Amino acid sequence: MPIDVESKLLIVDDLPENLLALEALIRGPGRPVYQASSAEQALALLLEHEFALAILDVQMPGMNGFELAEMMRGTERTRHIPIIFVSAAGREMNYAFKGYESGAVDFLQKPLDAQTVSSKVSVFVDLYRHRKALKHEIDALAVSHRRQEALVQQLQCTQRELERAVRMRDDFMSMVSHELRTPLNTLYLETQVRKLHLSKNNMAPFAPDRLPAMIERDQRQIQNMVRLIDDMLDVTRMRSGALSIQPRPVDLAQLARGVVESLAQQAEAVGPPIRFEAPAGVPGVWDEFRIEQVLTNLITNALRYGAGKQVEVSVRQEGGRARMSVSDQGPGIAAEDHARIFEQFERTDDSRRQAPGLGLGLYIARQIVRSHGGEIDLASAPGQGAAFSVILPLSAETPAA
Ligand SMILES: Nc1ncnc2c1ncn2[C@@H]1O[C@H](COP(=O)(O)OP(=O)(O)O)[C@@H](O)[C@H]1O
Ligand SMILES: [Mg+2]
Repeated sequence: MPIDVESKLLIVDDLPENLLALEALIRGPGRPVYQASSAEQALALLLEHEFALAILDVQMPGMNGFELAEMMRGTERTRHIPIIFVSAAGREMNYAFKGYESGAVDFLQKPLDAQTVSSKVSVFVDLYRHRKALKHEIDALAVSHRRQEALVQQLQCTQRELERAVRMRDDFMSMVSHELRTPLNTLYLETQVRKLHLSKNNMAPFAPDRLPAMIERDQRQIQNMVRLIDDMLDVTRMRSGALSIQPRPVDLAQLARGVVESLAQQAEAVGPPIRFEAPAGVPGVWDEFRIEQVLTNLITNALRYGAGKQVEVSVRQEGGRARMSVSDQGPGIAAEDHARIFEQFERTDDSRRQAPGLGLGLYIARQIVRSHGGEIDLASAPGQGAAFSVILPLSAETPAA
Protein backbone atom coordinates (compact mmCIF):
# COMPACT_ATOMS: atom_id res chain seq x y z
CA MET A 1 0.00 0.00 0.00
CA PRO A 2 1.48 3.40 -0.87
CA ILE A 3 2.52 5.28 2.27
CA ASP A 4 2.93 8.47 0.27
CA VAL A 5 -0.83 9.12 0.22
CA GLU A 6 -1.20 12.22 2.34
CA SER A 7 -3.92 11.85 4.96
CA LYS A 8 -5.13 15.19 6.28
CA LEU A 9 -6.68 15.17 9.72
CA LEU A 10 -9.16 17.75 11.00
CA ILE A 11 -9.54 18.42 14.71
CA VAL A 12 -12.28 20.68 16.05
CA ASP A 13 -12.40 21.90 19.65
CA ASP A 14 -13.25 25.26 21.19
CA LEU A 15 -10.37 25.01 23.71
CA PRO A 16 -6.91 25.78 22.28
CA GLU A 17 -5.15 23.59 24.89
CA ASN A 18 -7.27 20.59 23.84
CA LEU A 19 -6.33 21.18 20.19
CA LEU A 20 -2.65 21.33 21.12
CA ALA A 21 -2.80 18.17 23.18
CA LEU A 22 -4.75 16.24 20.51
CA GLU A 23 -2.47 17.34 17.70
CA ALA A 24 0.55 16.14 19.65
CA LEU A 25 -1.08 12.73 19.97
CA ILE A 26 -2.04 12.17 16.32
CA ARG A 27 0.60 14.03 14.32
CA GLY A 28 2.82 11.91 12.15
CA PRO A 29 4.60 11.73 8.79
CA GLY A 30 2.16 12.11 5.92
CA ARG A 31 -0.59 13.20 8.31
CA PRO A 32 -0.85 16.99 8.50
CA VAL A 33 -3.25 18.18 11.17
CA TYR A 34 -5.66 21.07 10.62
CA GLN A 35 -7.12 22.82 13.66
CA ALA A 36 -10.48 24.53 13.92
CA SER A 37 -11.74 26.19 17.09
CA SER A 38 -15.37 26.30 15.95
CA ALA A 39 -17.78 24.45 13.71
CA GLU A 40 -17.79 27.40 11.28
CA GLN A 41 -14.02 27.33 10.98
CA ALA A 42 -14.18 23.58 10.47
CA LEU A 43 -16.69 23.98 7.62
CA ALA A 44 -14.41 26.47 5.92
CA LEU A 45 -11.50 23.99 6.13
CA LEU A 46 -13.73 21.12 4.95
CA LEU A 47 -14.55 23.08 1.80
CA GLU A 48 -10.89 23.68 1.09
CA HIS A 49 -9.28 20.31 1.91
CA GLU A 50 -9.96 16.65 1.52
CA PHE A 51 -9.75 15.03 4.94
CA ALA A 52 -9.10 11.43 5.88
CA LEU A 53 -10.69 11.89 9.27
CA ALA A 54 -12.42 14.54 11.42
CA ILE A 55 -12.21 14.51 15.20
CA LEU A 56 -15.02 16.63 16.64
CA ASP A 57 -15.47 17.88 20.17
CA VAL A 58 -19.12 17.38 21.00
CA GLN A 59 -19.54 20.23 23.43
CA MET A 60 -18.83 23.54 21.76
CA PRO A 61 -20.50 26.92 22.11
CA GLY A 62 -22.60 27.76 19.06
CA MET A 63 -22.83 24.80 16.68
CA ASN A 64 -21.88 21.62 18.57
CA GLY A 65 -20.09 18.55 17.23
CA PHE A 66 -23.27 16.64 16.38
CA GLU A 67 -24.72 19.57 14.48
CA LEU A 68 -21.50 19.93 12.54
CA ALA A 69 -21.64 16.21 11.71
CA GLU A 70 -25.22 16.64 10.46
CA MET A 71 -24.05 19.38 8.14
CA MET A 72 -21.19 17.23 6.90
CA ARG A 73 -23.68 14.50 6.16
CA GLY A 74 -25.72 16.90 4.05
CA THR A 75 -22.90 17.64 1.60
CA GLU A 76 -21.58 15.14 -0.97
CA ARG A 77 -18.03 16.37 -0.56
CA THR A 78 -17.92 15.72 3.18
CA ARG A 79 -20.50 12.94 3.55
CA HIS A 80 -17.96 10.11 3.57
CA ILE A 81 -15.40 11.56 5.93
CA PRO A 82 -15.16 9.30 9.01
CA ILE A 83 -15.82 11.11 12.30
CA ILE A 84 -14.58 10.52 15.83
CA PHE A 85 -16.61 12.37 18.45
CA VAL A 86 -14.82 13.43 21.64
CA SER A 87 -16.87 13.95 24.75
CA ALA A 88 -16.82 13.58 28.49
CA ALA A 89 -20.23 11.96 28.30
CA GLY A 90 -18.89 8.54 27.30
CA ARG A 91 -20.50 5.78 25.25
CA GLU A 92 -24.10 6.83 25.84
CA MET A 93 -23.71 9.53 23.28
CA ASN A 94 -23.66 6.76 20.69
CA TYR A 95 -27.41 7.18 20.70
CA ALA A 96 -27.30 10.91 20.43
CA PHE A 97 -26.08 10.74 16.87
CA LYS A 98 -28.17 8.38 14.82
CA GLY A 99 -28.02 7.45 11.23
CA TYR A 100 -24.69 8.92 10.22
CA GLU A 101 -24.55 7.23 6.86
CA SER A 102 -20.88 6.62 6.30
CA GLY A 103 -21.04 4.23 9.18
CA ALA A 104 -17.54 5.33 10.02
CA VAL A 105 -18.28 6.89 13.36
CA ASP A 106 -16.37 6.32 16.51
CA PHE A 107 -16.14 7.81 19.96
CA LEU A 108 -13.40 8.93 22.32
CA GLN A 109 -13.86 9.71 25.94
CA LYS A 110 -12.24 12.48 27.86
CA PRO A 111 -9.72 12.44 29.36
CA LEU A 112 -8.04 11.08 26.25
CA ASP A 113 -5.91 7.99 26.52
CA ALA A 114 -2.87 8.37 24.24
CA GLN A 115 -2.81 4.70 23.17
CA THR A 116 -6.50 4.54 22.26
CA VAL A 117 -6.41 7.81 20.34
CA SER A 118 -3.44 6.91 18.21
CA SER A 119 -4.66 3.39 17.43
CA LYS A 120 -8.14 4.61 16.40
CA VAL A 121 -6.68 7.32 14.24
CA SER A 122 -4.30 4.83 12.64
CA VAL A 123 -7.21 2.56 11.74
CA PHE A 124 -8.99 5.35 9.92
CA VAL A 125 -5.87 6.63 8.23
CA ASP A 126 -5.07 3.12 6.96
CA LEU A 127 -8.60 2.80 5.70
CA TYR A 128 -8.32 6.08 3.89
CA ARG A 129 -5.04 5.09 2.29
CA HIS A 130 -6.42 1.77 1.16
CA ARG A 131 -9.39 3.46 -0.36
CA LYS A 132 -7.20 5.99 -2.14
CA ALA A 133 -4.92 3.27 -3.47
CA LEU A 134 -7.91 1.34 -4.72
CA LYS A 135 -9.32 4.37 -6.48
CA HIS A 136 -5.92 4.95 -8.03
CA GLU A 137 -5.90 1.41 -9.37
CA ILE A 138 -9.44 1.72 -10.69
CA ASP A 139 -8.51 4.94 -12.46
CA ALA A 140 -5.43 3.29 -13.94
CA LEU A 141 -7.58 0.38 -15.11
CA ALA A 142 -10.02 2.77 -16.73
CA VAL A 143 -7.16 4.50 -18.54
CA SER A 144 -5.74 1.24 -19.82
CA HIS A 145 -9.23 0.17 -20.82
CA ARG A 146 -9.64 3.33 -22.84
CA ARG A 147 -6.24 2.77 -24.44
CA GLN A 148 -7.20 -0.75 -25.37
CA GLU A 149 -10.41 0.46 -26.93
CA ALA A 150 -8.52 3.02 -28.98
CA LEU A 151 -6.15 0.28 -30.09
CA VAL A 152 -9.01 -1.99 -31.09
CA GLN A 153 -10.52 0.85 -33.07
CA GLN A 154 -7.20 1.48 -34.78
CA LEU A 155 -6.94 -2.20 -35.66
CA GLN A 156 -10.45 -2.23 -37.05
CA CYS A 157 -9.60 0.81 -39.13
CA THR A 158 -6.46 -0.87 -40.47
CA GLN A 159 -8.47 -3.96 -41.25
CA ARG A 160 -11.01 -1.96 -43.22
CA GLU A 161 -8.16 -0.32 -45.14
CA LEU A 162 -6.63 -3.68 -45.92
CA GLU A 163 -9.94 -5.05 -47.07
CA ARG A 164 -10.37 -2.01 -49.28
CA ALA A 165 -6.88 -2.52 -50.72
CA VAL A 166 -7.59 -6.17 -51.48
CA ARG A 167 -10.90 -5.24 -53.08
CA MET A 168 -9.17 -2.55 -55.10
CA ARG A 169 -6.55 -5.02 -56.30
CA ASP A 170 -9.24 -7.51 -57.37
CA ASP A 171 -11.25 -4.79 -59.10
CA PHE A 172 -8.07 -3.63 -60.76
CA MET A 173 -7.22 -7.08 -62.07
CA SER A 174 -10.66 -7.56 -63.54
CA MET A 175 -10.66 -4.07 -65.05
CA VAL A 176 -7.24 -4.54 -66.61
CA SER A 177 -8.16 -7.93 -68.00
CA HIS A 178 -11.34 -6.49 -69.42
CA GLU A 179 -9.58 -3.47 -70.89
CA LEU A 180 -6.89 -5.60 -72.50
CA ARG A 181 -9.33 -8.19 -73.72
CA THR A 182 -11.34 -5.75 -75.81
CA PRO A 183 -8.56 -4.69 -78.23
CA LEU A 184 -7.05 -8.17 -78.13
CA ASN A 185 -10.35 -9.77 -79.10
CA THR A 186 -10.73 -7.38 -81.97
CA LEU A 187 -7.25 -8.13 -83.24
CA TYR A 188 -7.75 -11.84 -82.80
CA LEU A 189 -11.01 -11.79 -84.73
CA GLU A 190 -9.36 -9.79 -87.50
CA THR A 191 -6.59 -12.37 -87.88
CA GLN A 192 -9.11 -15.22 -87.90
CA VAL A 193 -11.08 -13.54 -90.67
CA ARG A 194 -7.92 -12.85 -92.67
CA LYS A 195 -6.81 -16.45 -92.31
CA LEU A 196 -10.18 -17.57 -93.63
CA HIS A 197 -9.87 -15.27 -96.64
CA LEU A 198 -6.39 -16.59 -97.34
CA SER A 199 -7.45 -20.21 -97.07
CA LYS A 200 -10.15 -19.51 -99.62
CA ASN A 201 -7.69 -17.62 -101.76
CA ASN A 202 -9.87 -14.54 -101.47
CA MET A 203 -7.40 -11.68 -101.88
CA ALA A 204 -9.94 -8.87 -102.21
CA PRO A 205 -9.62 -7.66 -98.54
CA PHE A 206 -5.86 -7.36 -99.07
CA ALA A 207 -6.17 -5.17 -102.12
CA PRO A 208 -3.73 -2.22 -102.08
CA ASP A 209 -6.53 0.30 -101.63
CA ARG A 210 -7.88 -1.49 -98.52
CA LEU A 211 -4.58 -2.32 -96.83
CA PRO A 212 -3.87 1.14 -95.25
CA ALA A 213 -7.24 1.15 -93.45
CA MET A 214 -6.65 -2.37 -92.21
CA ILE A 215 -3.25 -1.48 -90.83
CA GLU A 216 -4.68 1.68 -89.31
CA ARG A 217 -7.30 -0.36 -87.42
CA ASP A 218 -4.70 -2.80 -86.13
CA GLN A 219 -2.47 0.01 -85.02
CA ARG A 220 -5.28 1.64 -83.06
CA GLN A 221 -5.97 -1.54 -81.12
CA ILE A 222 -2.29 -2.04 -80.43
CA GLN A 223 -1.91 1.58 -79.36
CA ASN A 224 -4.81 1.17 -76.95
CA MET A 225 -3.07 -1.73 -75.30
CA VAL A 226 0.29 -0.01 -75.23
CA ARG A 227 -1.30 3.07 -73.63
CA LEU A 228 -2.99 0.93 -71.00
CA ILE A 229 0.21 -0.84 -70.10
CA ASP A 230 2.11 2.46 -70.04
CA ASP A 231 -0.48 3.93 -67.67
CA MET A 232 -0.12 1.00 -65.31
CA LEU A 233 3.65 1.25 -65.42
CA ASP A 234 3.44 4.98 -64.72
CA VAL A 235 1.21 4.44 -61.71
CA THR A 236 3.58 1.82 -60.36
CA ARG A 237 6.51 4.20 -60.81
CA MET A 238 4.60 7.02 -59.14
CA ARG A 239 3.68 4.84 -56.19
CA SER A 240 7.31 3.96 -55.62
CA GLY A 241 8.38 7.55 -56.27
CA ALA A 242 10.48 6.45 -59.23
CA LEU A 243 8.84 8.63 -61.86
CA SER A 244 11.43 11.17 -62.84
CA ILE A 245 10.95 14.19 -65.04
CA GLN A 246 13.58 15.48 -67.42
CA PRO A 247 12.97 19.20 -67.91
CA ARG A 248 14.36 20.80 -71.05
CA PRO A 249 13.63 24.14 -72.72
CA VAL A 250 10.38 23.76 -74.65
CA ASP A 251 7.68 25.97 -76.14
CA LEU A 252 4.36 25.07 -74.56
CA ALA A 253 2.30 26.70 -77.32
CA GLN A 254 4.05 24.66 -79.98
CA LEU A 255 3.83 21.49 -77.90
CA ALA A 256 0.07 21.95 -77.39
CA ARG A 257 -0.48 22.67 -81.08
CA GLY A 258 1.27 19.38 -81.91
CA VAL A 259 -0.91 17.41 -79.49
CA VAL A 260 -4.11 19.00 -80.80
CA GLU A 261 -3.06 18.16 -84.37
CA SER A 262 -2.29 14.57 -83.47
CA LEU A 263 -5.77 14.21 -81.97
CA ALA A 264 -7.56 15.97 -84.84
CA GLN A 265 -8.68 12.74 -86.45
CA GLN A 266 -10.03 11.40 -83.18
CA ALA A 267 -11.88 14.67 -82.59
CA GLU A 268 -13.47 14.65 -86.00
CA ALA A 269 -14.79 11.18 -85.36
CA VAL A 270 -16.91 12.48 -82.46
CA GLY A 271 -17.66 16.14 -83.21
CA PRO A 272 -16.37 19.50 -84.43
CA PRO A 273 -12.62 20.14 -84.77
CA ILE A 274 -10.84 21.15 -81.58
CA ARG A 275 -10.56 24.93 -81.22
CA PHE A 276 -7.04 25.99 -80.37
CA GLU A 277 -5.82 29.32 -79.04
CA ALA A 278 -2.27 30.25 -78.08
CA PRO A 279 0.17 33.16 -78.38
CA ALA A 280 3.21 32.87 -80.62
CA GLY A 281 5.32 31.27 -77.93
CA VAL A 282 5.19 30.25 -74.27
CA PRO A 283 8.74 29.16 -73.55
CA GLY A 284 9.64 27.36 -70.38
CA VAL A 285 11.55 24.41 -68.94
CA TRP A 286 9.46 21.25 -68.65
CA ASP A 287 9.52 17.55 -69.47
CA GLU A 288 8.13 17.69 -72.98
CA PHE A 289 7.06 14.06 -73.17
CA ARG A 290 5.26 14.16 -69.80
CA ILE A 291 3.44 17.43 -70.50
CA GLU A 292 2.31 15.99 -73.83
CA GLN A 293 0.98 13.02 -71.90
CA VAL A 294 -0.97 15.32 -69.55
CA LEU A 295 -2.53 17.28 -72.38
CA THR A 296 -3.35 14.12 -74.33
CA ASN A 297 -5.13 12.73 -71.26
CA LEU A 298 -7.18 15.89 -70.77
CA ILE A 299 -8.16 16.24 -74.44
CA THR A 300 -8.97 12.53 -74.73
CA ASN A 301 -11.27 12.90 -71.71
CA ALA A 302 -12.95 15.97 -73.20
CA LEU A 303 -13.56 14.08 -76.45
CA ARG A 304 -14.73 11.00 -74.63
CA TYR A 305 -16.97 12.61 -71.98
CA GLY A 306 -17.79 15.91 -73.75
CA ALA A 307 -20.93 14.62 -75.53
CA GLY A 308 -19.44 15.30 -78.98
CA LYS A 309 -19.64 19.07 -78.47
CA GLN A 310 -17.00 21.76 -78.99
CA VAL A 311 -13.67 21.19 -77.24
CA GLU A 312 -11.32 24.13 -76.71
CA VAL A 313 -7.64 24.12 -75.85
CA SER A 314 -5.78 27.27 -74.90
CA VAL A 315 -2.29 28.12 -73.71
CA ARG A 316 -1.18 31.40 -72.20
CA GLN A 317 1.38 32.95 -69.93
CA GLU A 318 0.26 34.54 -66.67
CA GLY A 319 2.97 36.32 -64.74
CA GLY A 320 5.60 33.78 -63.82
CA ARG A 321 3.43 30.84 -64.81
CA ALA A 322 1.96 29.11 -67.81
CA ARG A 323 -1.69 28.07 -68.01
CA MET A 324 -2.95 25.39 -70.35
CA SER A 325 -6.72 24.78 -70.39
CA VAL A 326 -8.93 22.12 -71.90
CA SER A 327 -12.65 22.78 -71.78
CA ASP A 328 -15.69 20.98 -73.14
CA GLN A 329 -19.45 21.51 -73.18
CA GLY A 330 -20.38 18.06 -71.98
CA PRO A 331 -22.47 17.05 -68.97
CA GLY A 332 -19.85 18.37 -66.53
CA ILE A 333 -18.83 16.95 -63.16
CA ALA A 334 -20.70 17.23 -59.84
CA ALA A 335 -18.84 19.09 -57.09
CA GLU A 336 -18.62 16.01 -54.88
CA ASP A 337 -16.66 14.22 -57.61
CA HIS A 338 -14.12 16.99 -58.25
CA ALA A 339 -11.52 15.69 -55.82
CA ARG A 340 -12.30 12.01 -56.23
CA ILE A 341 -11.73 11.69 -59.99
CA PHE A 342 -8.06 12.61 -59.50
CA GLU A 343 -7.56 9.48 -57.41
CA GLN A 344 -6.59 6.11 -58.86
CA PHE A 345 -9.42 4.06 -60.43
CA GLU A 346 -12.02 6.70 -59.60
CA ARG A 347 -14.63 7.40 -62.25
CA THR A 348 -18.11 8.86 -62.12
CA ASP A 349 -21.03 6.47 -62.38
CA ASP A 350 -22.13 8.09 -65.65
CA SER A 351 -18.81 7.54 -67.35
CA ARG A 352 -18.64 3.98 -66.05
CA ARG A 353 -21.81 3.31 -68.02
CA GLN A 354 -20.62 5.37 -70.97
CA ALA A 355 -17.08 4.35 -71.85
CA PRO A 356 -14.45 1.85 -70.84
CA GLY A 357 -11.51 3.19 -68.85
CA LEU A 358 -9.29 2.46 -65.87
CA GLY A 359 -9.66 5.81 -64.12
CA LEU A 360 -5.89 6.41 -64.09
CA GLY A 361 -5.55 9.30 -66.55
CA LEU A 362 -6.25 12.21 -64.21
CA TYR A 363 -4.25 10.64 -61.40
CA ILE A 364 -1.24 10.34 -63.65
CA ALA A 365 -1.76 13.83 -65.07
CA ARG A 366 -1.88 15.42 -61.64
CA GLN A 367 1.21 13.54 -60.43
CA ILE A 368 3.13 14.71 -63.48
CA VAL A 369 2.01 18.31 -63.07
CA ARG A 370 2.85 18.25 -59.37
CA SER A 371 6.30 16.90 -60.02
CA HIS A 372 6.74 20.01 -62.19
CA GLY A 373 5.77 22.12 -59.18
CA GLY A 374 2.38 22.90 -60.73
CA GLU A 375 -1.27 22.06 -60.13
CA ILE A 376 -4.38 21.03 -62.06
CA ASP A 377 -7.57 23.04 -61.47
CA LEU A 378 -11.05 21.89 -62.31
CA ALA A 379 -14.00 24.20 -62.92
CA SER A 380 -17.20 22.35 -63.67
CA ALA A 381 -20.83 21.95 -62.67
CA PRO A 382 -23.49 19.53 -63.92
CA GLY A 383 -24.76 20.69 -67.31
CA GLN A 384 -22.05 23.33 -67.62
CA GLY A 385 -19.22 21.40 -69.25
CA ALA A 386 -15.81 20.97 -67.66
CA ALA A 387 -12.63 23.06 -67.76
CA PHE A 388 -9.36 21.50 -66.62
CA SER A 389 -6.45 23.94 -66.25
CA VAL A 390 -2.84 22.99 -65.88
CA ILE A 391 -0.83 25.68 -64.12
CA LEU A 392 2.93 25.33 -64.37
CA PRO A 393 5.82 27.40 -63.08
CA LEU A 394 7.85 28.54 -66.09
CA SER A 395 10.70 26.34 -65.00
CA ALA A 396 10.21 22.89 -63.54
CA GLU A 397 13.86 22.77 -62.52
CA THR A 398 13.05 24.23 -59.12
CA PRO A 399 9.67 22.62 -58.48
CA ALA A 400 7.85 22.97 -55.19
CA ALA A 401 8.42 19.91 -53.00
N1 LIG B 1 -14.12 16.29 -69.39
C1 LIG B 1 -14.78 15.52 -68.53
N2 LIG B 1 -16.12 15.59 -68.38
C2 LIG B 1 -16.79 14.80 -67.53
N3 LIG B 1 -16.21 13.88 -66.74
C3 LIG B 1 -14.87 13.75 -66.82
C4 LIG B 1 -14.09 14.54 -67.70
N4 LIG B 1 -12.81 14.20 -67.56
C5 LIG B 1 -12.78 13.23 -66.63
N5 LIG B 1 -14.01 12.94 -66.19
C6 LIG B 1 -14.39 11.96 -65.17
O1 LIG B 1 -13.23 11.62 -64.45
C7 LIG B 1 -13.03 10.20 -64.48
C8 LIG B 1 -11.57 9.88 -64.39
O2 LIG B 1 -10.88 10.24 -65.57
P1 LIG B 1 -9.53 9.53 -65.92
O3 LIG B 1 -8.70 9.53 -64.69
O4 LIG B 1 -8.98 10.18 -67.13
O5 LIG B 1 -9.92 8.02 -66.17
P2 LIG B 1 -10.75 7.33 -67.37
O6 LIG B 1 -10.80 8.29 -68.50
O7 LIG B 1 -9.98 6.09 -67.64
O8 LIG B 1 -12.09 7.04 -66.77
C9 LIG B 1 -13.70 9.78 -65.75
O9 LIG B 1 -14.07 8.41 -65.70
C10 LIG B 1 -14.92 10.68 -65.78
O10 LIG B 1 -15.88 10.15 -64.89
MG1 LIG C 1 -9.08 9.36 -69.15
